[in-house]
Amino acid sequence: MTNRPIYLDNHSTTALDPAVLDAMLPFLRESYGNAASVNHAFGWEAKDAVDRARESVAQALNAEPREIVFTSGATESINLAIKGAAETLRDRGRHIVTCATEHRAVLDVCRRLERDGFGVSYLPVESDGTLSPDRVGEGIRDDTILVSIMHANNETGVVHNIAAIGGLCAARGVLFHTDATQSVGKLPVDAKSMGAALLSCSAHKFHGPKGVGVLRVSRRDPRVKVAAQIDGGGHERGMRSGTLDVPGIVGMARALEIAVARMESDGARMRALRDELRARLLEAGDVVENGAREPRLPHSLNLAFRRVDSVALINDVPGIAVSTGSACSSANPEPSHVIMALGAGPFGSPEERARCSVRFALSRFTTAEEIDRAAGLVRASVEKLRTFSSVGE
Ligand SMILES: Cc1ncc(COP(=O)(O)O)c(C=O)c1O
Repeated sequence: MTNRPIYLDNHSTTALDPAVLDAMLPFLRESYGNAASVNHAFGWEAKDAVDRARESVAQALNAEPREIVFTSGATESINLAIKGAAETLRDRGRHIVTCATEHRAVLDVCRRLERDGFGVSYLPVESDGTLSPDRVGEGIRDDTILVSIMHANNETGVVHNIAAIGGLCAARGVLFHTDATQSVGKLPVDAKSMGAALLSCSAHKFHGPKGVGVLRVSRRDPRVKVAAQIDGGGHERGMRSGTLDVPGIVGMARALEIAVARMESDGARMRALRDELRARLLEAGDVVENGAREPRLPHSLNLAFRRVDSVALINDVPGIAVSTGSACSSANPEPSHVIMALGAGPFGSPEERARCSVRFALSRFTTAEEIDRAAGLVRASVEKLRTFSSVGE
């Protein structure tokens, strides 16, 4: 492992915490029962573990245990939230409000609903990636049935004022979903006080296992019904059929307990290291920071280096694992829709800005020595690539 690159791609996924693996292992070995097997001790043991995990996750999100629906991750949670709500409420209205900088999981679900007769408003953001709650209010119409706005952005780290948006939706009687995939475990997430009747997240973003997530579906104020998108044995109160991933669910709960317990100290440490990285890289000159500095996730930094192609930069520094945009859409060579939504800024076009942008994200395992080395490597490469590009000019 010693020669592995410095991992600064923690918006994409995070390392499994060894303590989380320890919590999961018994359920991958001897305790392999199906949580839905009601006739024997193997099943009871699995169900007990899932019940405990459900209580723990509910507590961490300030929700009720019966409001927690376990899924295969945020993509599935988002599909269930938006498609499930649209199906339930389609006789009340066919309009949805979301935002241009959402993750593809939200945007592509909305596009599918558009093909199915729904209207969707994709609200633009300010040039710093923020979205004012007033703009959301203006986007709501008489036939709006759902607002879906993410808590923290997975490329810029910009944090939206979800409590204000949730309050506004409640006042207008409109259902509200938030994609909290990047904020859960990093920032306090209180589903009730945020008014997030529907809330999605994924365990692997907070040092849990991949392939497991949560949708919170509020049961009171408001009582929400989402139509199942996966039919079968009626698991998860009929909202998501399929045998539960017991080791994954146990691991997710443990990962969230650890993340919540360490949130303040890890956040402060990552923020200090991130600020150090930012300061060192800004010294290169002609560097634009994408997205507002505050409010922003403490471990997140997104920079556009003028006259440097980000793909060339990434290829030139194999000692660092970073990305140009959302890994979830890396099959798609298009420049980031999130960075383009911020406008051109000092660049010739929004596309040029996106093509010069690199996303850095730290974790609680990132060390000061790694940040020091990463800053040196990126600075050297930026200078080298700029020399080449000016030779080309
Ligand atoms: C903001 C956001 N939403 C949703 C997702 C999808 O998560 P998953 O791939 O775990 O389903 C991601 C993953 O990158 C994300 O960052």
